[in-house]
Amino acid sequence: LSIPDDEKGYELDLFCVPKHYEEDLDRVIIPHGLIMDRTERLARDIVRDMGGHHIVALCVLKGGYKFFSDLLDYIKALNQNCDKSVPLTVDFIRLKSYCNDQSTNSVKVIGGDELSTLTGKNVLIVEDIVETGRTMETLLSLLSECNPKMVKVVSLLVKRTPRGSGYRPDYMGFEVPDWFLVGYALDYNEYFRDLGHICILNEKAKVKYKV
Ligand code: IMP
Ligand code: MG
Repeated sequence: LSIPDDEKGYELDLFCVPKHYEEDLDRVIIPHGLIMDRTERLARDIVRDMGGHHIVALCVLKGGYKFFSDLLDYIKALNQNCDKSVPLTVDFIRLKSYCNDQSTNSVKVIGGDELSTLTGKNVLIVEDIVETGRTMETLLSLLSECNPKMVKVVSLLVKRTPRGSGYRPDYMGFEVPDWFLVGYALDYNEYFRDLGHICILNEKAKVKYKV
């Protein structure tokens, strides 16, 4: 599902956004309901492909937590209602690569379980957004040292950017233009995770929340 570069999105007034962010946002780009509908389908595709295996779902914090939780809810619903079901366990890792709206060159692992617990497992990495691909490539190479049986990556968003390394996840929700997006757990210096829709930040807000 590709969101074109000339996508206008929706006026804020058409939806509900937290009062404390009303001045900070330009437009709604992906309304919460559309995120949910697309996530439901990704859950179905994942169960179709990985069904029958035990999956360790690895959430990349913090940005991945909403998508992770909603995706797993949909997988759970399928497990309850289909012939094929996937036993699920969960794991968390925290990575940081961003300052303001710029990707930094270093990707830091700052917490989470020992990756060695994933040896021999079928791992589904759940990420919010792939931009340059550096974060995911770093995580994949760290993970490969632990010899998991299988690794698949699902990212809610993939950015079309000339800075990309060419990396593509196995499953993706939306391909988006080269814009800085917030909401649905995607943040700008920790703000906007508490916003349901995926939105564009205005220039004033980039200054207001700058560190
Ligand atoms: P990459 O290493 O350049 O692929 O960047 C991926 C990470 O940067 C993601 O996991 C996000 O945490 C963060 N990121 C990239 N683009 C955005 C954005 O538009 N909004 C919020 N966070 C972003
Ligand atoms: Mg992330």
